Amino acid sequence: MTFSHPSFGALDPDRIIIFDTTLRDGEQSPGFSMNLAEKLRMAEALAELGVDVLEAGFPIASPGDFESVESIARTIKGPVICGLARTGGRDDIARAGEAIRPAERRRIHNFISTSPLHMKYKLRMEPETVLQAVIDGNTQARNYTDDVEWSAEDGSRTDPDFLCRCVEAAIKAGATTINIPDTVGYALPEDIARIFTMLRERVPGAEKVIFSAHNHNDLGLAVANTIAAIRAGVRQVECTINGIGERAGNAALEEIVMAIRTRHDALAWHSGIETPKILRTSKLLSTITGFDVQPNKAIVGRNAFAHESGIHQDGVLKNAATYEIMTPESVGWTKSSLVMGKHSGRAAFRDKLRALGYGEIGDNQLNDAFRRFKDLADRKKVVYDDDLIALVDDEVMRGNDRIRFVSLDVHTGSKAKPRAELELEIDGTAQAAVATGDGPVDATFNAIRDLFAHDAVLRLYSVGAVTEGTDAQARVTVRLEENGKMVDGQGADTDTIVASARAYVHALNKLLVKRTRAEPKALSA
Ligand code: KIV
Ligand code: ZN
Repeated sequence: MTFSHPSFGALDPDRIIIFDTTLRDGEQSPGFSMNLAEKLRMAEALAELGVDVLEAGFPIASPGDFESVESIARTIKGPVICGLARTGGRDDIARAGEAIRPAERRRIHNFISTSPLHMKYKLRMEPETVLQAVIDGNTQARNYTDDVEWSAEDGSRTDPDFLCRCVEAAIKAGATTINIPDTVGYALPEDIARIFTMLRERVPGAEKVIFSAHNHNDLGLAVANTIAAIRAGVRQVECTINGIGERAGNAALEEIVMAIRTRHDALAWHSGIETPKILRTSKLLSTITGFDVQPNKAIVGRNAFAHESGIHQDGVLKNAATYEIMTPESVGWTKSSLVMGKHSGRAAFRDKLRALGYGEIGDNQLNDAFRRFKDLADRKKVVYDDDLIALVDDEVMRGNDRIRFVSLDVHTGSKAKPRAELELEIDGTAQAAVATGDGPVDATFNAIRDLFAHDAVLRLYSVGAVTEGTDAQARVTVRLEENGKMVDGQGADTDTIVASARAYVHALNKLLVKRTRAEPKALSA
């Protein structure tokens, strides 16, 4: 690389820039929306993980999106903070520019479709008008920052000559990163390699920019396509934690990073990701969104390092390398997950949280989490790392909630009608209610409705276990819908009904945040 990048200066040619879009492409997929506090918590974790660019959102999409990008730009140190904008809309770029302004290093990412199909049916624009928009958009974006990325949406299905003309125009207008997305996850690795090789060979000025890949996983090829792109000269990869994103998702950050690390013999590049923080970041995302990864998910799935067959177990005991191509510790799985007991003190608790990858937690949140830990340690024989993570994430995420869970007593059995005695704190005032129902969960949810009347409809109720055994904490997800808005709430506790109450209250708090925001405009990206 022979030039100085506006955000990264003189670039190490072997360094892969990790562009994380968990909070934009990931967050905009159904069921994965997050509130401001959750986005900030996630952004903090991504910064600690070591991502180079953090795409924080799409500021024009809604006042809420603008606010979260602006808050992340103001508070998160480390990565370049990026806001998305449509190339065609002058307001988009101005809003993105305003939202990212507080960041030390900032990027505008503007995009427009370039494939015949998208230009004709989605944009209803002629190719020459799209080309002019590319020039205008990138020129405008440079008024807000020197770090400008341009994306050719549906780039992998774009006519090669037209793609070359657009990329040349974007570079001339000031773009410093050129991203070619496989928007619909259609390409094969050889298609991706051909596109980037062609652009680097044919486009004047190609040597002055970073090329970037953004692959969707509709055919399960997103990571393979990303590796093919790196081999073809791409130095930025766009990805998400757990591979979340539109439809089948984006390329998974953890899989790309561990592929280049584990197969360094064949892939001689490196990233700045602190790989032992991968698991913790993945779990935080699952806690926030309520979606666990599948057990066999590479790197972060529960079974990723589990050996069931006797032959495999025997091999691993003799030498772990027989069946493990990377160490579990290298991605954050700890050998001994047994942690602390009821005699552990606050200092040990704080140390343990640091070791689990939590930065500084405020005193109030630490006190609340510590109280819940003591309570858990009293009830549960062994407290595992996963228990602590579930508990602390639960507590940290509830900082600004209007409704807080205080206590619950449930009387149930095969004869009597289940009855729930519930206490909540609503806007700082403790309130209690007693309700019955068709089961203990129903009685509890009725008590919540008595204390805080609302019209939201329950769309999903699911229960999973944080760890193993009958004394494991239950992790409950509750999905509520109100006026077409859907939110997911999570709660964890050794008592499934208490976890259910916490999850319901969490979902209600999220709805309250949504109510105070304006309707988002329908946009696609
Ligand atoms: O998939 C896509 O094309 C995108 C662009 C906005 C980069 O997400
Ligand atoms: Zn995308």
